[in-house]
Amino acid sequence: MAKLVVNGQPQAVDVEDEMPLLWVLRDTLGLTGTKYGCGLGQCGACTVMIGKDAVRACTVTVGDVAGPVTTIEGLSPDRSHHVQQAWLALQVPQCGYCQPGFIMAAAALFQRSPKPTEAEAIEALTNICRCGTYARIRQAVRILAKA
Ligand code: FES
Ligand code: FES
Repeated sequence: MAKLVVNGQPQAVDVEDEMPLLWVLRDTLGLTGTKYGCGLGQCGACTVMIGKDAVRACTVTVGDVAGPVTTIEGLSPDRSHHVQQAWLALQVPQCGYCQPGFIMAAAALFQRSPKPTEAEAIEALTNICRCGTYARIRQAVRILAKA
């Protein structure tokens, strides 16, 4: 039995400690906004926040989670988070599959550093988008950094 706090709600999940957090979020808790891409920690589709850090949920076991977990569902109740608003304003997504991970990585970046430099943004946003939305993502981050 693993105990977690996910999006502000305490959860007790009857799974092995070795199960990746991503599986617990999607299959046990039904939070399918967090996506499965590579399963290898490379694509970032599964990015969530643990505490204030962006973490790739396929790479951390549920037994190793130390801190509250925030998924895309918990970022805001109504898409009002400033990163979500910037993404909407610039119509960043194409197919959308990678976008929860990008948004969570960006949200963690702005929580850490409200006015990130271009270099900080590049270092923080290493996710992969097969649709190639990188230019609009960079533009949204630039606008938020100046806001
Ligand atoms: S699914 Fe986790 S990094 Fe790709
Ligand atoms: S918007 Fe399609 S993979 Fe990124």
